[in-house]
Amino acid sequence: MVTLRVLGSAAGGGFPQWNCNCPNCAGVRRGTVRATPRTQSSIALSENGSDWLLVNASPDILAQVRATPALQPARSQRDSGIAAVLLMDAQIDHVTGLLMLREHGRPLPLYATAPVLADLDRAFPLRRILSHYCGLEAHPLPLDGSALRLAALPSLALTPVPLDSKAPPYSPNREAPQHGDNIGLRVVDTRSGARLFYAPGLGAIEPHVMAELQAADVVLVDGTFWQDDEMPKLGLSAKRARDMGHLAQSGPGGMIEVLDAVPRVRKILIHINNTNPILDEDSPQRRRLAAHGIEVAWDGMEIAL
Ligand code: MLT
Ligand code: MN
Ligand code: ZN
Repeated sequence: MVTLRVLGSAAGGGFPQWNCNCPNCAGVRRGTVRATPRTQSSIALSENGSDWLLVNASPDILAQVRATPALQPARSQRDSGIAAVLLMDAQIDHVTGLLMLREHGRPLPLYATAPVLADLDRAFPLRRILSHYCGLEAHPLPLDGSALRLAALPSLALTPVPLDSKAPPYSPNREAPQHGDNIGLRVVDTRSGARLFYAPGLGAIEPHVMAELQAADVVLVDGTFWQDDEMPKLGLSAKRARDMGHLAQSGPGGMIEVLDAVPRVRKILIHINNTNPILDEDSPQRRRLAAHGIEVAWDGMEIAL
């Protein structure tokens, strides 16, 4: 059996966001909105319960490790259950946690696409910085549909799926998309055939993405925004969801409509922005998701594949 543990289910900023007084953030702080705080975007996968693949390294990784005893199997004086890290993109909320793992005893195996590794070499030189600490053992991810196999998770076939989304604001590729700036991950348990598709940043449902959704048993997909103009409406930013590479849930062609087309799949939204009304468990938007059979990920959620 494969265990997927959601370490952080919020988008960049977390929930509540430190400087935000939107209805959700203010409400959860005051206790007037029924919602659960969430840390920033990351999941972990294991097949033996003590060796884990960390998928995205969030700025909240230290709190996430503390909240997840299985990530600290204590097999020696200095130890970690994190066998390797795999990145979906080079966004701050997905890579900054690497700095927090600098005490690792040997170079930390890191799997990321060539454009992501390039951003971490130049625009945000994490690799150079970490070379003065544990160092990173970088492995470029294939983008040709071939699967990656890791010794620590021997039964899993991990296939990167290139996605149309956005490179980070700091990247030279922000307005000049490169193949591999953003990926999703197909995870197949080769023993049972169980299949998962994880895509926390999904800007458009390209035909190959629809095929991934159809073929999966469980999908964990972009739950960032309810509405395309959510941030402008709240007066928080001029950016629409699509400007940031995220497909909103509501409206024609939105994520709810997309997921309605894959009726037998378990559907879970992840990477939820603090402004999203679905975080309020009493909201009509949350009820609408439930009516469509769509779940909302929370920190600590475990999925047995
Ligand atoms: C995004 O995916 O758009 C991010 O959460 C933005 C960020 O990290 O600030
Ligand atoms: Mn993000
Ligand atoms: Zn907020």
